[in-house]
Amino acid sequence: MLCPCLSLKKKHVRRAVADGASTVAKVYRLNGKKARCGKCARKIKKLIEKYS
Ligand code: FES
Repeated sequence: MLCPCLSLKKKHVRRAVADGASTVAKVYRLNGKKARCGKCARKIKKLIEKYS
């Protein structure tokens, strides 16, 4: 699991990027979540680069 705090998986990031998310905060928001521990932020950032 990419983000155990918020139950986010890679597919959630992929979908958010397809919907226009360009930052980690926007990925959280488009999934209806707020950041918690933030440990996933680096991994999410890499995925945003990969999918955009
Ligand atoms: S692992 Fe994503 S907020 Fe904690």
